[in-house]
Amino acid sequence: MRSFEARNRHFDRLFNTPNLMWFGQNTNHFPTHPAVRRAMIDSIEAEEFHAYAPPAGLEELRTLILADLGLTEAAVLVTDGAVEALYNVCRTLAEPGSEFLTTDPGWKWPMQFAMASGAKVVEIPIYGPQNGYRLTVAQLEAAATEKTRIIYLVDPNNPLGVCYTPAEIKAFTQIARRVGAYFLHDATYRHFADEHTLAARFYPERSITIYSFSKWLGLAGLRVGALVAQPELVERLAAAPPNNLGCNVISQRAAIAGLKVKGEWLPDINRRQRRNQAEIHKAASRVPGLNVAVYPSQANFLVVECIDAGISPEALCEAFRAEGIMIRQGSYHTPRFGHRFVKIATTVPEAWSDALCAKLPAMVERARDIENPGPLF
Ligand SMILES: Cc1ncc(COP(=O)(O)O)c(C=O)c1O
Repeated sequence: MRSFEARNRHFDRLFNTPNLMWFGQNTNHFPTHPAVRRAMIDSIEAEEFHAYAPPAGLEELRTLILADLGLTEAAVLVTDGAVEALYNVCRTLAEPGSEFLTTDPGWKWPMQFAMASGAKVVEIPIYGPQNGYRLTVAQLEAAATEKTRIIYLVDPNNPLGVCYTPAEIKAFTQIARRVGAYFLHDATYRHFADEHTLAARFYPERSITIYSFSKWLGLAGLRVGALVAQPELVERLAAAPPNNLGCNVISQRAAIAGLKVKGEWLPDINRRQRRNQAEIHKAASRVPGLNVAVYPSQANFLVVECIDAGISPEALCEAFRAEGIMIRQGSYHTPRFGHRFVKIATTVPEAWSDALCAKLPAMVERARDIENPGPLF
């Protein structure tokens, strides 16, 4: 079977598993705020979906996204999720012979997009306690050259959950400016961090901020996100985008409603997901050989190392899958370090998190007997 077919069947099986507990894609499974649900129902009942939305997004949504980021001089292009924004940037700005600089681990799809544009991908290894699982200024300085077209920083990092300080972001953008590179700042997880600094603050002319509603607001299946940059740059990115007919209108209504209730809703979501982090951290520390790499995580997931327990991440995922629990193998993020860890999302109901914690010791034992877990993606 072709690999895209196998991948699709894998996710189709998961999607159609009743009551599956999703810990594998950093999605948010807390109940939706009633105002967000109402906005979607109202949109459906008004049958707004017969018309295309404005190509760059509903003006109200564009204004609210800018306000949420605290930016004023920038322009917003609403997209079908952050991934469409990343695709557009990588396909428009990366060129054959240019270099696309990013971290290992990080998020794999933009690397594929840049490679499809003929760029060479350069990954800087950051996995390990020696630098606190983070990119250092010296590493970026050493890797950036005149050929670097795009520096892609996932911040907070997926899967590690580290988040960069204002001083680090400032130094990274100074390097980008020196070599003339775009700074592609993927802030998909910024709403889970205690503090987050936008690269656009220091390097407005060539920073592109990537925004998602999938994680903090829990709209992954609705596909809505955005890119935010200087108007001239957005003009270029809006010239031939993958979708020039406007993003899903129901999703945009949900996103508008979400931004309006964010102040009352998000602090509680964060309190609950940090509580889940604490429980998973505690449960992992009781199992010999398990270790949480970065705690607390500034995103909505934890990297749990299992290498010292003598089991493979794939076997642990398979053991949990048989219990109706989906967690993610590290190799999804990184061939180099993926054999060391699994990733577990924390924006889930407390009962799911407690079920995972209760089963953890037994799953580690069961994983010892799983020699050939099926293909995972
Ligand atoms: C770093 C990062 N960027 C972007 C995305 C995609 O976000 P969206 O659902 O808004 O397309 C993900 C999804 O997992 C991600 O981890």
